Amino acid sequence: MTASEQHKPLDVFILAAGLGTRMKSRRAKVLHELGGLPLIAHVCRTAQALGPERIIVVVGHQAAEVEDVVRTEIGHLARFALQPEQRGTGDAVEVARTMLENSESLLLVLSGDVPLVKPETLTKLVEHHRSTRSDCSILSVRLENPTGYGRVIRDAQESFARIVEQKDATDEQRQVREINSGIYCFETKKLFKALSRVEPANEQGEYYLTDVPEILMADGARVTVYLHNDSREVSGINTRADLAEFENLLRRNTIRSLMIEGGVTFIDPSHTYISAEAKIGLDCVIYPGVSIEGRSTVGEGCTIHSGARITSSRLGDNVVIKDRCVIVDSEIESNCSVGPFAHLRMNARLEESAAVGNFVEVKKSRLGRGTKAMHLSYLGDATIGEKTNIGAGTVTCNYDGKSKHETLIEDNVKIGSDTMLVAPVRVGARSVTGAGSVVTRDVPPDSLVAGVPAVVKKRLGERNDEKKG
Ligand code: UD1
Ligand code: MG
Repeated sequence: MTASEQHKPLDVFILAAGLGTRMKSRRAKVLHELGGLPLIAHVCRTAQALGPERIIVVVGHQAAEVEDVVRTEIGHLARFALQPEQRGTGDAVEVARTMLENSESLLLVLSGDVPLVKPETLTKLVEHHRSTRSDCSILSVRLENPTGYGRVIRDAQESFARIVEQKDATDEQRQVREINSGIYCFETKKLFKALSRVEPANEQGEYYLTDVPEILMADGARVTVYLHNDSREVSGINTRADLAEFENLLRRNTIRSLMIEGGVTFIDPSHTYISAEAKIGLDCVIYPGVSIEGRSTVGEGCTIHSGARITSSRLGDNVVIKDRCVIVDSEIESNCSVGPFAHLRMNARLEESAAVGNFVEVKKSRLGRGTKAMHLSYLGDATIGEKTNIGAGTVTCNYDGKSKHETLIEDNVKIGSDTMLVAPVRVGARSVTGAGSVVTRDVPPDSLVAGVPAVVKKRLGERNDEKKG
């Protein structure tokens, strides 16, 4: 082998066109999520970590959605090949022929449904491929229960002979526990040469990529097997039961590393759900039944009580989230307290030391520093200043049946219990609304309003003047 051959560039090829019949879903299998991230996104990240020249993804079912996910993960590295009809893994590679067949590269083939394979393992496969001067290297593992997988059949000398799919295997072959992981490294040109000879002469009437190694061997090419020792890592997801098993595995790993390396306390790790994308700071305490989803960030010293769901949100330091809160796409600064039973959504923002209590919904609204809304309120499309108190039962009436309107409440305001703020409306600084007010017009600063509709009863500044007089 010449030096230039040894350093052939690496291309990665990802099979992701299938629907995944065994998932029993309308959604393409590779779009199903594991740890809050589509399966295909996991595979793309791993592929990217190897520093390949290109990553070619074969798409078919829900191609547009799959392409979107891939672009989000790996952007310009991605190339797509469309497999209009899913006629097997061999056919899936065939559709990229024009893109690859003359390429002087190594082609690392991955499956979109094998999401937890580690970059190190793939690097070892590529190293094995190079050092054994193989034309095709197959990553295999031994499984306790190999049912469903293609079996690696070896000859009397223990060398690779062929791969036989479960459905085509004899009873004797089905006893073999060494399986094909669906991950291979090929000399690209040789792969495409052999591929044109694959026939759909099998139980499923499909073009099998797994026939290529045997064809290569018949041509005198070198085919080897790299037996990996971690079977879980390279197992594929075919059913929802597999998906749940992987979810558990991934979650256990995520939580374990948060405990061991991240200094986070979990009261009951087996009943806590943390996305692999989430970041959680030192000395946080997480109670059972909490879900932290998406790219959420939680600062240091936060306490998150039972049953809270936090999705794609940011929490500062020392935040307390009480039981059963739902927090989506929102931001909570340090020293805030939320809940129990509060709902923050659509870019709700609590500034430093603000507090939101029982049965309060905050939508697309900002609460300034130290502002409190402790009971039974709806705050939507509202901007609320600092140190304001929102009384129990306050509602921003933001919707007139056609459009949404904004409410502006300035600093140091006291909104009385059961106030209806009919937006668009503004309440000036230091003003007070009486209990049960229906505020339909702007309230000037330093005033007390009350009634239905609310009118100014008193200028709070005047009271001071009266005293002086
Ligand atoms: C495949 C292998 C099997 C191996 C197993 C490992 C073949 C024939 N069999 O079987 O030996 O043990 O993976 O997980 O290759 N796909 C396409 N287009 C198609 C068909 C499939 O893109 O026409 C994609 C799927 O979306 C999936 C991947 O290829 O990401 C594997 O397909 P799947 O149907 O899951 O193959 P298995 O039966 O698991
Ligand atoms: Mg599969």
